[in-house]
Amino acid sequence: MSFGSRLVKNTLISQAQAKVKHDLAAAWMVFHEKLHDIKEIVSLTAARESLHDAIRIKKKDILLKYLGRVREEYELDILTLTDHKGRVIVRTRNPSVVGDDMSQDEIVKWALNRGILAHPQIITRKELLKEGEDLSYKAYMEFIETPKAAPRPENKETSGLMLKAASSIVDENNRLLGVLYGGILLNRNYEIVDRVKEIIYKGEKYKGREIGTATIFQHDLRISTNVKNERGERAIGTRVSKEVNNAVLVEGKPWIDRAFVVNDWYITAYEPIKNIAGNTIGILYVGMLEKPYIDTTNRVMFTFTVLALLCVILLLVILYFSTTRIINPLQRMVVATQKIAKGDLSHKVEVKSSDEIGYLANSFNQMTADLKAANEKLIEWGKTLEKKVEERTKELTEMQAHLAQSEKLASLGKLAAGIAHEINNPLGGVLIYSHLLLEDTDKNSPHYENLKKIVKETSRCKDIVKGLLEFARPKEPETSLIDINEIVESSLAIVERQALFQNITIKKMYSSNLPRTVADSAQLQQVFMNIILNAAEAMDGNGILTLITSLTDDGTHIEVKFSDTGHGIRKEDKERLFEPFFTTKEVGKGTGLGLAISYSIIQKHQGTIKVQSQVDKGSTFTVKLPVLRELEHD
Ligand SMILES: Nc1ncnc2c1ncn2[C@@H]1O[C@H](COP(=O)(O)OP(=O)(O)OP(=O)(O)O)[C@@H](O)[C@H]1O
Ligand SMILES: [Mg+2]
Repeated sequence: MSFGSRLVKNTLISQAQAKVKHDLAAAWMVFHEKLHDIKEIVSLTAARESLHDAIRIKKKDILLKYLGRVREEYELDILTLTDHKGRVIVRTRNPSVVGDDMSQDEIVKWALNRGILAHPQIITRKELLKEGEDLSYKAYMEFIETPKAAPRPENKETSGLMLKAASSIVDENNRLLGVLYGGILLNRNYEIVDRVKEIIYKGEKYKGREIGTATIFQHDLRISTNVKNERGERAIGTRVSKEVNNAVLVEGKPWIDRAFVVNDWYITAYEPIKNIAGNTIGILYVGMLEKPYIDTTNRVMFTFTVLALLCVILLLVILYFSTTRIINPLQRMVVATQKIAKGDLSHKVEVKSSDEIGYLANSFNQMTADLKAANEKLIEWGKTLEKKVEERTKELTEMQAHLAQSEKLASLGKLAAGIAHEINNPLGGVLIYSHLLLEDTDKNSPHYENLKKIVKETSRCKDIVKGLLEFARPKEPETSLIDINEIVESSLAIVERQALFQNITIKKMYSSNLPRTVADSAQLQQVFMNIILNAAEAMDGNGILTLITSLTDDGTHIEVKFSDTGHGIRKEDKERLFEPFFTTKEVGKGTGLGLAISYSIIQKHQGTIKVQSQVDKGSTFTVKLPVLRELEHD
């Protein structure tokens, strides 16, 4: 700010300064014009023939009258005539004082040497008193206390400053008749300074004060000026400031700068007034009140400041908008990235603008959405993989259970076969002999019933052993190309007539496009019959039996499903279902060999039997057989 203010101030003030310097030149013109006028009046008067004649005949009264008229007409303060030696003959302002010698006066001396000269000159009080007592009063000035003026031992001025011209008076024979000199006392004479002010400043005012001023100094003392003091009077009797005094009066240089004049700051120009010998005897000054310029500077500075403030406000507004439009969305994006980094992919950046930021936000949201989709796909894949692993694990456990079951059955089979073989023959004997005994015993004999029981139980034992042998050493299948639907149907036909099936509804869903396959029809019939009987028993003769045959999708296997609505199988029983002798039926009712035999038959056929069951709802037995088209045996 201070830089700007200084710049404005310097520019304005230096322009004003240049003007003031120019004004001083104009002031000099007025000053010299006045000097020239005096010189003209004096020289023209000195050249008058009538003056020559009057001098020659020494007619003092005529001379006094004539020269007195000239002095009044041209408003000279003094007009004095000397003889050819410089002695005063006529003194128009003070006629009573004559005969004194003026030959030592610098200007008169010049004229005595047959010249014409005009110059400013200091006139002492003594000289002033000679020329006219009133002039000494006019010149007399007591110093007025002036701030910033250089101290001086004197406190008053008694001499005066005069514009003075002298001309020699020479007759037609070139004889020197005398010297005529005249002048104007500048003390308290305001003609020059007011003319300068009039010409240059045309009476311009600023807040009731004159802007332009001019002054003539006698040494440092204002003797003619239009600078005013506080009371509005001309500030004569005041003195020049110390710094100007040093520059102009002591060093004889011009002063062109601001200066404190009487009671205010002015933009000024001072130049020395010199006497004939070249010594500085006074100063010519012009100056302009600084205040209008300072005020202008301040006004400019005020405008400048207001403009600067407006700029700052504008910048702040721009900053605010750029913050809300750029930084805030970016911040929201940063928050969003942090959320995304923590795994929240559903987060969206809300930016409604349609510029680059909006575009960026949209791309960002798009990226998040893509990321989310990719992530979801990954999770989905993970789940599928898990499911697949689960399925495979289940299959493996099933396979393992199956293997264990097979092994268990095999060892059990061996044991059973050994026992059955050993028991079979003695049992045959027991049966034959007990039969014979029964035949020989009278029906009324008390042993008859007991023998009958022995035969019955032995037959039962024989059946068990037969079953065991069948399980342990099953016959090799006698295969032929068969129709599974027919086998299911014939198996059903055999058992269906029993009283157990009277209240059982049988639903059949046979596939019409089953291929024929190679199998032992009798063995399969045995398996199916056993499963159907088990189902009927589980339903206690009351329920629905559903028979379904189908071909697997890949066409490699035939499935036969037997679903009942019976009491179902408990979980712990399910594992032992295919073990020989496992039965839940009461003793004597079932052998528990039915499913064990069925299992080994189906195994021989390279098929499987599986059970699904829910307690109190029912069970489904599924027999799965491969589709074999070639006969392996004959
Ligand atoms: N459909 C079924 N519903 C409920 N339980 C069943 C079913 N099939 C078999 N079972 C259970 O399996 C056991 C074993 O059956 P399996 O056919 O081997 O012997 P059993 O029927 O008890 O005797 P057997 O067949 O020698 O007369 C049965 O005692 C029964 O508990
Ligand atoms: Mg059974």
